[in-house]
Amino acid sequence: MTRCVVVGSGAREHALAWGLAKSADVLVTPGNPGIAAHGLTCVDTPATQLDADLFVIGPELLLTRGLANELRDQGKLVLGPGRDGAQLEASKAYMKEFLHDAGVPTANFGIFDAPDEAYDFLRTMTPPYVIKTDGLAAGKGVLVTHDFTEACADVRDKLSGNAFGDAGTTIVIEEGLDGEECSLLVLCDGQRAVPLVPAQDFKRVGENDTGANTGGMGAYAPMETMSEADVALVMASIVAPTLDELRRRRIDFRGVLYAGVMMSSHGPKLLEYNVRFGDPETEVLVPLYGADLYELLSSVASGELDVVPATNGKCAVTVVLSSHGYPESPRTGDVIDGLGVDGQLALPIEDVTIFHAGTSRDGHGRFLTNGGRVLAVTAVGDTLVQARERAYAAAEQITFDGRVMRHDIARSAN
Ligand code: AMP
Ligand code: GLY
Repeated sequence: MTRCVVVGSGAREHALAWGLAKSADVLVTPGNPGIAAHGLTCVDTPATQLDADLFVIGPELLLTRGLANELRDQGKLVLGPGRDGAQLEASKAYMKEFLHDAGVPTANFGIFDAPDEAYDFLRTMTPPYVIKTDGLAAGKGVLVTHDFTEACADVRDKLSGNAFGDAGTTIVIEEGLDGEECSLLVLCDGQRAVPLVPAQDFKRVGENDTGANTGGMGAYAPMETMSEADVALVMASIVAPTLDELRRRRIDFRGVLYAGVMMSSHGPKLLEYNVRFGDPETEVLVPLYGADLYELLSSVASGELDVVPATNGKCAVTVVLSSHGYPESPRTGDVIDGLGVDGQLALPIEDVTIFHAGTSRDGHGRFLTNGGRVLAVTAVGDTLVQARERAYAAAEQITFDGRVMRHDIARSAN
């Protein structure tokens, strides 16, 4: 059987490994205790010392540091862009300039590293104000506010390095956009680009999109308000000019180009690019692409993507359980009830899979919370309503002190 290495340690990598294991031998490095309990092999050996037919890299930080370059230099087949392509996510200032050069519709913006100029720019804007750290901040570096004083305080905090260290000492300020948000994950083989079904992520920690931005509190797919025509429009107006610009810059992008899109009343606008599978979007997408995942990802990595992948026609919902204090100061070490020794539901529910994001095990084999996002509870159904019911029934079975979850994931979907 073909062998595949998945690099990373979160629920995204758990979902990828679980999906790929339907048609390949999978090793995860380093993985986590929940992935191992699920019967998937986790090893501590660095990816560069492993051998496999395909390497799938999860986290943006590793891509930014050039892991894909290193593996390709060793002659390996890799899903994930090199350092050059990863810049699209590593620096929002770079991304915005790239979009400008490419002619991709996006929010108007300014780039600043000095507070006074930033305050002057804010004074010219109508609220909401959107302030973003330039560098990587695990989805937490964005403030959207109507309050001018809060906006100025955030500028000061970020530019001083207090809020996000060096990742924040350059900021992007941009106009606020209104509309429905969509995560369109596009497979790119260096030449061609093919979208997966649109997904929606729930970024705020609180119900009805209130509170701080997080890495993502839940997701569902397909997103029924995105028609095929909408997806085609995003591909034509956003992704196609991006591919042209990548070519112009001689960037051979082989991996997942994740377009965070606002479907505004003035047409689709790009909020951000990520250069990898989204988390928790991956947890809802992998279960929809059945047993063909290995073939599909391998064709992307080798530059031979010649199919438009079909889903199994089902719907998926993920509810994230996070720990007390997430996202500001997550507490770890709380005992999790409701899981069996395999890290799955102690009382199984049809078509439910628990992907582990941040868990550890104690000497008694119990699972403990070990991160901000703890578990991604995922259910598949014939309809979104069925998937959502199953996901929440499963989520309710799993308890720990301080558990935080949103109750409105995919609530508007029918
Ligand atoms: P980003 O990391 O750039 O995707 O931003 C995180 C979240 O902040 C997005 O998913 C949006 O919900 C929100 N956001 C970012 N940019 C804007 C904008 N220009 N207007 C309104 N909301 C935004
Ligand atoms: N779900 C947002 C992200 O993966 O960055």
